[in-house]
Amino acid sequence: MLDCFIGLMSGTSLDGADGVLVDFSGRQMRILATASEPFSASFRAELLALNAPSSNELHRAALAGNALAAVYAQVVAGLIRQAGALGVTARQVRAIGAHGQTVRHQPGRTSAEPAGVGYTLQLNAPALLAELTGIDVVADFRSRDVAAGGQGAPLVPAFHQGVFGRAGEAVAVLNLGGISNLSLLPGAGSQLPVRGFDCGPGNALMDAWCLQHTGQPFDAGGAWAKSGRLIPALLASLLDEPYFSLPLPKSTGRDLFSLAWLAEKLRPFAGERAEDIQNTLTELTVRACAAGLGSHGKESTELIVCGGGALNIYLLQRLQTALPGLRLSTSEAHGMAPLQVEAAAFAWLARQMLDRQPGNLPGVTGAAGLRVLGALYPA
Ligand SMILES: Nc1ncnc2c1ncn2[C@@H]1O[C@H](COP(=O)(O)OP(=O)(O)O)[C@@H](O)[C@H]1O
Ligand SMILES: [Mg+2]
Repeated sequence: MLDCFIGLMSGTSLDGADGVLVDFSGRQMRILATASEPFSASFRAELLALNAPSSNELHRAALAGNALAAVYAQVVAGLIRQAGALGVTARQVRAIGAHGQTVRHQPGRTSAEPAGVGYTLQLNAPALLAELTGIDVVADFRSRDVAAGGQGAPLVPAFHQGVFGRAGEAVAVLNLGGISNLSLLPGAGSQLPVRGFDCGPGNALMDAWCLQHTGQPFDAGGAWAKSGRLIPALLASLLDEPYFSLPLPKSTGRDLFSLAWLAEKLRPFAGERAEDIQNTLTELTVRACAAGLGSHGKESTELIVCGGGALNIYLLQRLQTALPGLRLSTSEAHGMAPLQVEAAAFAWLARQMLDRQPGNLPGVTGAAGLRVLGALYPA
């Protein structure tokens, strides 16, 4: 019998929603259908605006959550249509794991708050999604880990271990979303635990600069960055950010690596060419990831790249230059398209929730222990 779940991911890149329909009944997860829906330019702008304080946010956040659920429902409809060709119907889908849209991420233990912990906030409308699809929805995966004193992120390393982990060989998985995160997977049988953390900016700053100067939402293949030259003084200033040398556990978001952060860093470089700045922002992502791997994942023999940044050929070339001696591949070479990996992880997390199994790794997030993640909205 099939054990079908849908995973929906919309990350900090704000590019849109990616979905997969997977079957967990076999020894290896099987992807039955994939679908994506881009966000409209105006919705993307509204979500970006909601990442920073502004007027009437509660009302606008609620409406944005509803609009997101409508996009999610379109992705689900596309998945169900495709799965129909395989004889799979919506009734066979046990649940949808819907990540939601992170607009604030300020997790972790803090003595400054009465409850002793911070928070992470994903806009979503899981009740509406259950209504629109007729399928059970699991949402709000991160807040239980935060309640237990964790970062609430990254949540994907356990899934990465199941899909990409090897016997006898340590590999690292780099997800290049708006923010970049690394999963460090020791070889099976190793004494080392699985670890993971956010490296820093992934595509978010490159996308913003590209949109502002070319009108394109991202730098396809990194061609524009490639046409520019590195500005060493700017790179040094960008890398002079305490986050990069913080100990683990750590996670970050647009709260820190915001457009305001970038604007401040760029102020002394006002006369520089836009393509040189793009080149330098690309190098920032490369260096942040290489430094993260150098500090915490030296034992890795291969780096598997996923997320939309895996389609940035120039960035991958720069990564290989920064990490000589490391085998570099994309998740595609291991059977999963770069934009499907995180969505599949949320299908897996939904299954963990329904089975009342933990979804977090306390060694990754810093939570006090294993926790069942997410809340169920029955159809
Ligand atoms: N062909 C491409 N060339 C370069 N970058 C790309 C390409 N396709 C997608 N991307 C990048 O990937 C991003 C989307 O990646 P994704 O994994 O969905 O991130 P997130 O999880 O943050 O939404 C886009 O915003 C863009 O920066
Ligand atoms: Mg995305």
